[in-house]
Amino acid sequence: MQLSTASWPEVEAYLARSKGIVIPIGSHEQHGPNGLIGTDAICPETIALEAAAEGGFLVGPTFSVGQAQHHLAFPGSITLRPSTMIAAMQDWIASLTRHGFTRIYFLNGHGGNSATIQAAFSEAYAAWSLRGEPAPFALAAANWWELPGVSGVIRRIFPVGDGSHATASEVSVTYYRYPEAVKRVEMTPKIAPSGSFRDAADYRRRFPDGRIGSDPSQASVEAGAEIVAAAKRALTAEVVKFFEAAPAAS
Ligand code: NI
Repeated sequence: MQLSTASWPEVEAYLARSKGIVIPIGSHEQHGPNGLIGTDAICPETIALEAAAEGGFLVGPTFSVGQAQHHLAFPGSITLRPSTMIAAMQDWIASLTRHGFTRIYFLNGHGGNSATIQAAFSEAYAAWSLRGEPAPFALAAANWWELPGVSGVIRRIFPVGDGSHATASEVSVTYYRYPEAVKRVEMTPKIAPSGSFRDAADYRRRFPDGRIGSDPSQASVEAGAEIVAAAKRALTAEVVKFFEAAPAAS
């Protein structure tokens, strides 16, 4: 069930049987010469929607712009400052908990979001801790590629050149979702350099075509289908466990 296409009575009925919701969270940032700008939002959204169709849980709108300051030297990238993202996440969390959701699971598509997501969680809990009351909700976050069993599938399909940004695996997941957006591009070198970076100018100087450590020319619709199938199974199991955990004290 998708929040965007549900009516309020349907959400009210859902809340009578479950207090849990999954929010895909990602980024809009360059993903190399053949990767889609929305890759990090599309991947968790695709996996969450497919898992929800089987598992019967609710998926909220995708929090689709995140921490991408280092990609801003490439056209199309959009970023939130960390402080903006933390503030926006407070409002999403407060709106959902107001309705009675007590389990909010963020499925993340962008490693660069992780620190800010954890800071947002601390901010949400701090209000209750400082007040001396137990928080009436629990928050969880997981990177889709770290769901149980997924990295093994990715290593088997792409033993070489999956990389760390504009990966063959994430590009494959987006091609599976949007086969009409498949782009065939020759890349040199075949496997991009690896390393760290600071700001947007530094990133573009070190990684001129946007990739880090990857050869996404290997990406395919078929690989994406296999990766989504594994991630969907794993997500369903994780979400069931998290939603069924003892309800927060009230
Ligand atoms: Ni990505």
